[in-house]
Amino acid sequence: MRSVGIIGHPVAHSLSPLFQNAAFAHLGLDIQYQAWDTPEDALADRVASLRAPGTLGANVTIPHKEAVIPLLDEPADDALRIGAVNTIVNREGRLFGYNTDGPGFVRALQEANFEPRGRRVLLLGAGGAARGIAFALAEAGSRVAIWNRTAARAARLVEDVSALRPVAEVADTPAVLGYDCIVNCTSVGMEGTGTEAVSPAVFSDATPGTLAVDIVYKPAETAFLRAAAEAGLPTLGGLPMLIHQGALAFELWTGVPAPVAVMTAAAEEALAKEAGR
Ligand code: ATR
Repeated sequence: MRSVGIIGHPVAHSLSPLFQNAAFAHLGLDIQYQAWDTPEDALADRVASLRAPGTLGANVTIPHKEAVIPLLDEPADDALRIGAVNTIVNREGRLFGYNTDGPGFVRALQEANFEPRGRRVLLLGAGGAARGIAFALAEAGSRVAIWNRTAARAARLVEDVSALRPVAEVADTPAVLGYDCIVNCTSVGMEGTGTEAVSPAVFSDATPGTLAVDIVYKPAETAFLRAAAEAGLPTLGGLPMLIHQGALAFELWTGVPAPVAVMTAAAEEALAKEAGR
């Protein structure tokens, strides 16, 4: 039995163990995905434990995505640029760090038949999630405008992306006119934040056909997605991105294509059960 797990605090409500274990079981792989609740003072020991033979690596989530970087042997360049690692791979005792959040987001867009090349995308937010998505979209050939409540953070992200590709600019307002895709990368609307009824964008003057994407997956339909749907726009929730960042991590650990449909079904079933409770 080999193991892999998620390092975070708290991790009890993470969907990753569920859908990753469903994928391992589906392919008959003798691997168990565990929930490794790790307070800050235990992080260094937890990461060191990943070097053991039989441990494939880990996912990393809130609040440790930045703090794990100096504990790794080989963080990838894009993870360093983003400033966050969400996937660790143990290769013969050496720890490699990756960030699959942005590439997972791009895969989710493509699965929804939105090809990012040449498209104008507005990101709302400039936190860790927005950083991964901004770099991945820039690499996929989009033009990216970034609005953030705290303007300095948006300016910093634009500067960082522009150093790699000159395709990013600051948006002074969250106005949605003139974009092909609007992405909510803020935590506004997320269950448990007290902002569940708030949409960070108003869609009344959106260009018809603009795709509205929320990276929040709990609740499945956020106020942002509801407002977009009411304005007649196509929408995409946060679950496909969650699944695809996990699928890319799965592929890094195992070298085997991830059974995305199996993972999605397991996650949807768990979310439906939770929502019905
Ligand atoms: P994550 O890693 O999930 O992106 P984060 O780094 O804490 O988390 O970023 C949260 C994002 O949500 C930020 O863009 C934050 O804006 P600020 O940089 O101004 O803090 C945004 N955010 C959180 N609450 C918000 C609110 N009530 N209104 C607007 N933006 C909000």
